[in-house]
Amino acid sequence: MVEHAPQSAWIDVERWLTSTVVKPGPEHERALRAAVDRGMPAIEVQPTAGKLLHLLVRMSNARRVLEIGTLAGYSTIWMAQALPEDGHLDTLEYLPEHAEVARANVAAAGLEGRVEVHVGPALETLPTLEGPYDFVFIDADKQNDTNYLQWAARLGRPGTVIVVDNAVWEGALLDPEMDEANAPGIIAALELLGSPPFDATVIQTVGSKGWDGFALAVVK
Ligand code: SAH
Ligand code: DHB
Ligand code: MG
Repeated sequence: MVEHAPQSAWIDVERWLTSTVVKPGPEHERALRAAVDRGMPAIEVQPTAGKLLHLLVRMSNARRVLEIGTLAGYSTIWMAQALPEDGHLDTLEYLPEHAEVARANVAAAGLEGRVEVHVGPALETLPTLEGPYDFVFIDADKQNDTNYLQWAARLGRPGTVIVVDNAVWEGALLDPEMDEANAPGIIAALELLGSPPFDATVIQTVGSKGWDGFALAVVK
């Protein structure tokens, strides 16, 4: 691998950008703290990415958002805050204990009127939902990324914006054997994104979550 700045520099830069540009509120900090207090994995998006989701929801004038993979509701809060008063966000979470923390965090952010947390395997919840969604964020079990993309297209419309987290996964696309559980699903999703009905790109990122990235797509 080529040499790059050490991870400590990525993290220092991320911290500086977060406090200078992103400026998370107390509701974001609370959500992170609640997740730590409950022993949940620290795998939520970075603040810089949470703010990006917020801006993308706003820039796409989204009124209906679908999120697959809630955890403690950190990304949920960032996106829901970008919705108009009458907007709605459905977020899907497999684990009841995660959903419970997320609901409390969403309520503490004053967003319970705009957000519904659905508990269960996403593939069982998705058939119960009605489109069209304007914006879809996929961030759950990577094995199902292609299924989630197909659902995003089905529940979307031409113009629906889709973001898929963890699209680079430390470069796993070059060496799927380095993570046999997740890499094949991520690679299959990227291959799907290369053809209609998707029009997509992938942005690589570094920071507190290491070397990763996200796919940004629109339904044609
Ligand atoms: N989007 C969140 C992080 C999500 S982490 C944020 O950035 O703040 C991934 C979440 O997906 C975990 O809470 C995990 O329990 C959930 N998950 C895993 N498999 C799932 C499935 N099949 N259906 C729904 N949720 C799932
Ligand atoms: C993991 C999952 C994520 O969605 C993420 O952003 C980082 C890590 C994980 O399962 O390890
Ligand atoms: Mg993720």
